[in-house]
Amino acid sequence: MMPKRARLDAVRGPISSNGPMQTRPLVALLDGRDCSIEMPILKDVATVAFCDAQSTSEIHEKVLNEAVGALMWHTIILTKEDLEKFKALRIIVRIGSGVDNIDVKAAGELGIAVCNVPGYGVEEVADTTLCLILNLYRRTYWLANMVREGKKFTGPEQVRDAAQGCARIRGDTLGIVGLGRIGSAVALRAKAFGFNVSFYDPYLPDGIEKSLGLNRVYTLQELLFHSDCVSLHCTLNEHNHHLINEYTIKQASEVENMRPGAFLVNTARGGLVDDEALAQALKQGRIRAAALDVHENEPYNVFQGALKDAPNLLCTPHAAFYSEAATTELREMAATEIRRAIIGNIPECLRNCVNKEYFMRSSSGTAGYSEAGINGGYYSGGLHTQQAHSTTPLEAPHSAGSTHAASGPPQQPSAVSAPPAQSAVAPPPGIQHAMVSKSPLSAPDPTNHHVSAKPEPSEVH
Ligand SMILES: NC(=O)c1ccc[n+]([C@@H]2O[C@H](COP(=O)([O-])OP(=O)(O)OC[C@H]3O[C@@H](n4cnc5c(N)ncnc54)[C@H](O)[C@@H]3O)[C@@H](O)[C@H]2O)c1
Repeated sequence: MMPKRARLDAVRGPISSNGPMQTRPLVALLDGRDCSIEMPILKDVATVAFCDAQSTSEIHEKVLNEAVGALMWHTIILTKEDLEKFKALRIIVRIGSGVDNIDVKAAGELGIAVCNVPGYGVEEVADTTLCLILNLYRRTYWLANMVREGKKFTGPEQVRDAAQGCARIRGDTLGIVGLGRIGSAVALRAKAFGFNVSFYDPYLPDGIEKSLGLNRVYTLQELLFHSDCVSLHCTLNEHNHHLINEYTIKQASEVENMRPGAFLVNTARGGLVDDEALAQALKQGRIRAAALDVHENEPYNVFQGALKDAPNLLCTPHAAFYSEAATTELREMAATEIRRAIIGNIPECLRNCVNKEYFMRSSSGTAGYSEAGINGGYYSGGLHTQQAHSTTPLEAPHSAGSTHAASGPPQQPSAVSAPPAQSAVAPPPGIQHAMVSKSPLSAPDPTNHHVSAKPEPSEVH
């Protein structure tokens, strides 16, 4: 057990008191470059930097030492050792819903709140799931490829041969593993196509099946045995790694396993499926066809790994969540959670903290270890916006002129029109920061940059 309080006192000290801040908190986007949506939301309360890193070894020391907030996509992993490198971190917000790339427990023990954005792309993932299911049943993807390759269909026999395997949906059973936000959105859509929908989710209370008009089963084996198509929608956790494995997809001759010739769809997490077992099952026809949006090793390489020569496999690049509207919503929600952490108290102010239990106050009303938040847990008040930077005309702006001269590049004028008061945080080379402005939060601010010349990373959910 690590000495929690001692660590926070000794290493992390409160980042602000109720008095005026000398410097503004540093928030870093760890594995991306584009902060154009986050910046307007955060720039009046924080300095925003981006790292565009794929591992913590690529993250600048200043961020490791000073960042109190981190935003991250899914392209970086934060183990306990990685988390320990951050000396001031109080909150991590995953720009997405899955937090399986963060050691959430270790973060809690280190006093770092971990938040996600659970609801942003539910419709997109559900729609993509149906799109994949329909492709498996109607073989649209394979038929379209034949047409593209120049195949001519001159008669019904050729159509029949090419469309071999196309199946009717009505009356088939769709088995959903995990009836959360996305699973239930898939269930509702699937019913409209004529599926009988069953689900397995051991964590839900009784009655949900009645609200949604679904068939509930109480073991995974039962679901797999009764389903013509299985769609995975559970979160990946320490209990369900390789949930779909050699055993669960064995021939139906062993009564309680997946029925032969079922379809499999995974838009949840790659780690739920054992690729070796799936490849074998596809080759042997025990699984008729599979559609995977997620893979254990991403980015997925079609030429490598167990699935490289598996037939009847349709893969997409972890893009189920994506639509312009969903991504904008996602990024706004993630930045807003960080903003709440800066101006409020952790965990009360947070909407989607997944390790809240590490920060709860004791029943006596005194805050325990948990009181250490981004706002300096030992203080009764939150870090209010006006404490973070100058907001009154009488206050001297946080001019960074001298510090810039010493260690940072000259600050470019902000795109927003109001006279900016610059942050007192002097960025190191390679980390520029937002300028403080009294302009509306929605004003665009293109001042976040990074020296890295890496190409824009894809926004992986
Ligand atoms: N492909 C994408 O782009 C994309 C986008 C968003 C979310 N996701 C993934 O989709 C999945 C579902 O997301 P959500 O927002 O609906 O999550 P959610 O938390 O709302 O629902 C997950 C459900 O799974 C259940 N569950 C957990 N372990 C289970 C198990 N072993 N067996 C059966 N049920 C189990 C939980 O009780 C919960 O009801 C997650 O894995 C998430 O990471 C993927």
